[in-house]
Amino acid sequence: MLKKKNYGEIIEFKAARTILGQPIYVTHFFYLNGLLIDTGPDCKSMEIISALKKLPVENVVITHQHEDHTGNCSLIKKELGVPIYAHPGALDIMANPPDIEIYRKVMWGNAPPVEAKPLPAAVQAGHYTLDVIHTGGHSGDHVCFFEPQNRWLFTGDIYLGESLTGFMIGENIVEHLTGLKKMIGLKPNLLFCGLKGRLENATQRLAGKYNYWWDLCSRVKDLYNAGKSRQHIMSEAFGGEIFFYYFSQSNWGRRYMLDSIIENLDYLDSEQKKNPLRDM
Ligand SMILES: [Fe+2]
Repeated sequence: MLKKKNYGEIIEFKAARTILGQPIYVTHFFYLNGLLIDTGPDCKSMEIISALKKLPVENVVITHQHEDHTGNCSLIKKELGVPIYAHPGALDIMANPPDIEIYRKVMWGNAPPVEAKPLPAAVQAGHYTLDVIHTGGHSGDHVCFFEPQNRWLFTGDIYLGESLTGFMIGENIVEHLTGLKKMIGLKPNLLFCGLKGRLENATQRLAGKYNYWWDLCSRVKDLYNAGKSRQHIMSEAFGGEIFFYYFSQSNWGRRYMLDSIIENLDYLDSEQKKNPLRDM
């Protein structure tokens, strides 16, 4: 499935592998005045390249190195002859992609190797200048792109939803919270999300996520300080592990978020004393 929607100068692409006509997992990527932000999954490469050939793509920028965002970089570079830019932390992985879990190959396909260039501090999209904002969190190389005149924020996989409670292995709660705070400080109007597409009330949504996660961290902290076991905390604060943990071959689960919160209790404690949350 590949769907295309126009929002003024912004084109939103929505791509997914389907089973019996139903999308498994949707990925959005965006086009603005010659600039392509992410490239969609490799499993939809033929439809995607055919759609992009109808546009004057001049540059490609990547929010982070996951295969549902970088899956068509190699093909686009070859077929359209345009440069690809990503955070310096993504370049090695994009040039030498690691073997990924089977569920990721099924949902999105592999990301073929590609040589990308390091992102500058800002990127042009015609007469628009988009600031590159490093967030980390979801992956160490994650960046968002912010257009300050219209307050558009392209967030890759930073938002995904307000009440998401799960991490991939290696995600870091402190990076997530500081990244969200940075995004909230920009006061965006519209959010362009890798999972949910174009969303209004961008600042309120990001603050809602920040508050939800902070409350979850506080519950974990209280239970941990009361001497409760990890198993108890998982059940009490998270409602237990989710099925996707097993489907993802232990690659994604609530336990990784719990681990990261417990590993960073000192940080959470010091931030809570400053009471940054309720100032939002
Ligand atoms: Fe991702």
